[in-house]
Amino acid sequence: MPGVVLVGAQWGDEGKGKATDLLGSRVDYVVKFNGGNNAGHTVVIGDEKYALHLLPSGILSPGVVPVIGNGVVVDLEVLFQELDAISSRGVDTSRLLVSGSAHIIAPYHRTVDKVTERFLGKRRIGTTGRGIGPAYADKINRVGIRVWDLFDEKILRAKVEGALDQKNHLLVKVYNRRAITVDETVDELLLYADRLRPMVTDTSVELNKALDAGRTVLFEAGQATMLDVDHGTYPFVTSSSATAGGAVTGSGIGPTRVDSVIGVIKAYTTRVGEGPFPTELFDASGEFLRKTGGEYGVTTGRPRRCGWYDAVIARYATRINGLTDIVLTKLDILTGLEKVPVCVAYDVDGVRYDEMPTDQTAFHHAVPIYEEFDGWWEDISRARTFEDLPVNAQRYVQALEEMSGTRISAIGVGPSRDAIIPVHDLIHGR
Ligand code: GDP
Ligand code: IMO
Ligand code: MG
Repeated sequence: MPGVVLVGAQWGDEGKGKATDLLGSRVDYVVKFNGGNNAGHTVVIGDEKYALHLLPSGILSPGVVPVIGNGVVVDLEVLFQELDAISSRGVDTSRLLVSGSAHIIAPYHRTVDKVTERFLGKRRIGTTGRGIGPAYADKINRVGIRVWDLFDEKILRAKVEGALDQKNHLLVKVYNRRAITVDETVDELLLYADRLRPMVTDTSVELNKALDAGRTVLFEAGQATMLDVDHGTYPFVTSSSATAGGAVTGSGIGPTRVDSVIGVIKAYTTRVGEGPFPTELFDASGEFLRKTGGEYGVTTGRPRRCGWYDAVIARYATRINGLTDIVLTKLDILTGLEKVPVCVAYDVDGVRYDEMPTDQTAFHHAVPIYEEFDGWWEDISRARTFEDLPVNAQRYVQALEEMSGTRISAIGVGPSRDAIIPVHDLIHGR
């Protein structure tokens, strides 16, 4: 012990990469347990900026064992491109472990992702186009390819045949695309098998042993609560379990091994892709947040949709994940605003909702009820204690803490590693 879970509390891009990096020196293992290279985490260390997609952010911390858990979907080409890119910058990647039970994103998953989105037209999800949804669909449909399958060519070939059987009908007859052959797929997947083999293990055994030996294990989510396939704004979600429960199924540990759950929350809200977003701003304030906050996707480069902080979502994330701590990020971006509105509840067709409506129709009709807080003008990027913050910034943070019902244990005031105000210890027992 301890086992620490770290999740995004909004629609992603809250600064999970930075929060993981913050804990890196005190952690022995960092496990990615869901998603794939749809994630984009930025970590800034000194003058160096790293963008990570498939690899856990903990790979940048010397001494940490990075683990890709069974809940992840792995694009092999991306895995090795990313490993090569960060190795060439002097990062030691030799300790990486990959679960043999993780599923593979095959080339046909990327194809299906793209054609499905095109076919959906106005009803599209706005996916990252990385094949994530189709790979998870095959997993649930029991026609997925797992990492272990790469090491038995006969089994691999049989499984690829099974997976392509229906897909080729769909691609050719519905989407008017060319059929994908079993040979080309198997050949492409086998290209990586030998290089992958030494990294592959039963990561559940490894992680449980580590916890037994008193090591600290950080389970780092990709995506976020509102993108979770069960608890997010379905169907405008990703296809994996991005909430704290996913850490358990996605890495093969029991829930009794988790001691604390950290939720990372931005001091305002952003979203990439389609789907409802009650506090979204379409005016100069939205543009201000996008420009000042540099809100452009790390994976697809798309401009992020921006809006005010939503305390209903923070409360929901607290409940769904059982949060014990919040890392509040990007408080510095709000500097210079006369007033800072916070959504405290929704008005849904004349009815007040203090809790998140999980009925799609109700959430689509949700109109934010705002409370306004006085802003501040002082540069806070060099604040390192809570008392360094201007009084109005302190009041804003305290109000968010009260509304979410979880203590705020760290406050981000800039992108770099040291631009953080520690408030409570983030690694602790229950
Ligand atoms: P992730 O996907 O949750 O890891 O987040 P992203 O990396 O996609 O997006 C967060 C962005 O905010 C990155 O560019 C970070 O460098 C940056 N960032 C994180 N924390 C802070 C902060 O406290 N202040 C500022 N100004 N930037 C931050
Ligand atoms: P990180 O880990 C923000 C969004 C996509 C789309 C939806 C489904 O950096 O926070 P998918 O390709 O997963 O099937 O797309 O989910 N999405 C993210 N948005 N941050 C992410 O990851 C995301 N990963 C997926 O934009 O709306
Ligand atoms: Mg991101």
